[in-house]
Amino acid sequence: MGTLTLSIIILLTVVAKPAIAQEAFKYENFKKPKYCGAACHNDFYVQWQQSMMSKAYTHHWDEIEYFELAVPHAEKDEKVAEVKEGCNGCHAPISFIVGDVPPPRPEMNSRANESVSCEVCHSITGYEGEVPFNFNYTVNPGKTKYSSRKSEVDSPAHEIQVSKLHKSGDFCGICHNEKSPYGVWVKSTHLEWKEGPYSAEGVQCQDCHMPKTAARTASMGAIYPDARMHIFNGAHDNGKIRGTVEIRLYPDIDEAEPGEEVLLTATLFNQKTGHKFPTGSVEDRIVWLHVEAIDANGKVYHLPVEKKGFEGEEYTIASDVLAYQDMGIAKEIPDFQGVQRDAIPVGNRIFRMPYFDPQGRMTIQQWNTASLGVDYRFAPRETKTETFKFALPDDIAIGELKFAAKLNYQKLVSSVAKYLNVPAEESEIVLVNEQVTSIEIID
Ligand code: HEC
Ligand code: HEC
Ligand code: HEC
Ligand code: HEC
Repeated sequence: MGTLTLSIIILLTVVAKPAIAQEAFKYENFKKPKYCGAACHNDFYVQWQQSMMSKAYTHHWDEIEYFELAVPHAEKDEKVAEVKEGCNGCHAPISFIVGDVPPPRPEMNSRANESVSCEVCHSITGYEGEVPFNFNYTVNPGKTKYSSRKSEVDSPAHEIQVSKLHKSGDFCGICHNEKSPYGVWVKSTHLEWKEGPYSAEGVQCQDCHMPKTAARTASMGAIYPDARMHIFNGAHDNGKIRGTVEIRLYPDIDEAEPGEEVLLTATLFNQKTGHKFPTGSVEDRIVWLHVEAIDANGKVYHLPVEKKGFEGEEYTIASDVLAYQDMGIAKEIPDFQGVQRDAIPVGNRIFRMPYFDPQGRMTIQQWNTASLGVDYRFAPRETKTETFKFALPDDIAIGELKFAAKLNYQKLVSSVAKYLNVPAEESEIVLVNEQVTSIEIID
């Protein structure tokens, strides 16, 4: 082997190597969450237990995607081989740091099940490079905990080092930005926030996901007026999703006769998210607008959205086509036909961003993403307008004609969930918002 080839290989190995020197730490260096929660941080412990942070490794869909898609795919395709370890850098960070990868399955009840634990976040001292992404944390587990303030009462269990990073959204970006092996930003919640209005106004991720309230941060400590709740509520909390976008509907006329055409406009305002909506696992998530007209006899007409004509729009209008063929790699079905791309009523507007595999097919495998399509999601505080035309049938009932709009959200496209046997709750349809208006149909 020539020196050049050898040094390229070494270089590649170095690049692929994570920021942490693996095996420098052992599981014993990290306390269990129960240790932190049992006597002192009782409240934070129970809050954390309810959040996805404590389930990042054990959650059903994570287990299925990692063990049934990512690991087999990584073993077959050199290009994505790194994800076999890499997924754990964010989902089971301690196992990743100590080099226990792939970790045992969740049912084995190993320490990987601790997921993103107290010790993970409170051992983080910083991140390498300019941009936080792909678990580029630096950690220093031990007697010193890194956090945003020093308490008035000295902790009997540890020392506290005040860390500015913990007060900043940049801290969250370490795991909430992800680049695929193809160099594509497949998760960019932090970058979306950074370029949006909230970060400019100094509103951090913590302000919406770790809200401040009067509470004790430790059982023996004082009550702080601004203690940081460890709730981390997001897509798995229907209450967090609800009301994210407001809808107003207005028809162009208030009276019409059968045979006439009504133009209906929907304005949708993202009042709630500090990043785009949907964000995070965007490859899985869809938000869609379903509009119906209901006449005085109760007859329902589904109204398809009017096309706008932008590039890539076909991915934003529900249709009866197949996608996600690259699941066939892990499943060893070379000519896999795919499953329904959208699996919702045809003609509905979908707010999403499609991910494409190296062959240009839509994928839900973010590690196999070589390019991104049109970004038709809601930016923070953005208002989108959609229009619908309804040519009133000659036999439409005289009287009140209602228009009803529903904005729905789904964490995982239902066809994919069915194909992979992901429990139904992951593809539950969550109502974001709804609105009703009406006109009079006259003779
Ligand atoms: C060490 C990595 C790591 C850090 C640091 C981190 N997160 Fe997370 N976070 C995760 C992982 C992994 C999940 C996914 C859990 C799952 O599997 O669904 C998650 C889930 C979440 C969720 C729930 C999403 C849902 O689907 O309901 C929210 C909200 C969240 N994080 C907010 C934050 C905020 C705010 C910060 C910064 C204060 C932060 N995270 C820092 C790794 C991290
Ligand atoms: C995803 C990362 C993450 C996890 C997991 C996490 N924390 Fe925190 N914690 C933070 C951040 C960030 C802050 C500081 C927030 C701020 O002040 O803006 C914090 C603050 C704290 C504080 C100080 C609160 C205050 O208001 O002064 C305590 C105590 C604490 N965490 C304990 C825990 C315990 C115990 C657990 C496990 C049950 C835990 N943390 C899990 C990120 C995390
Ligand atoms: C102004 C409030 C606000 C700010 C600031 C904010 N978020 Fe959110 N976040 C929300 C709301 C509302 C949702 C629920 C709707 C959704 O899923 O986007 C959400 C959802 C999420 C989710 C779930 C996404 C998914 O599909 O799994 C994650 C993860 C998350 N936020 C992380 C962050 C991080 C990291 C930051 C900072 C970089 C941040 N958020 C800043 C309001 C906020
Ligand atoms: C850079 C950190 C990071 C890496 C690397 C990473 N993830 Fe995640 N993953 C997250 C975060 C953060 C979330 C949750 C919040 C969101 O959707 O924004 C998440 C969410 C998920 C979800 C969706 C959970 C749900 O219930 O909707 C699955 C499944 C998942 N990851 C699997 C994987 C697999 C498999 C890999 C490796 C190929 C991987 N992740 C690599 C950070 C990461």
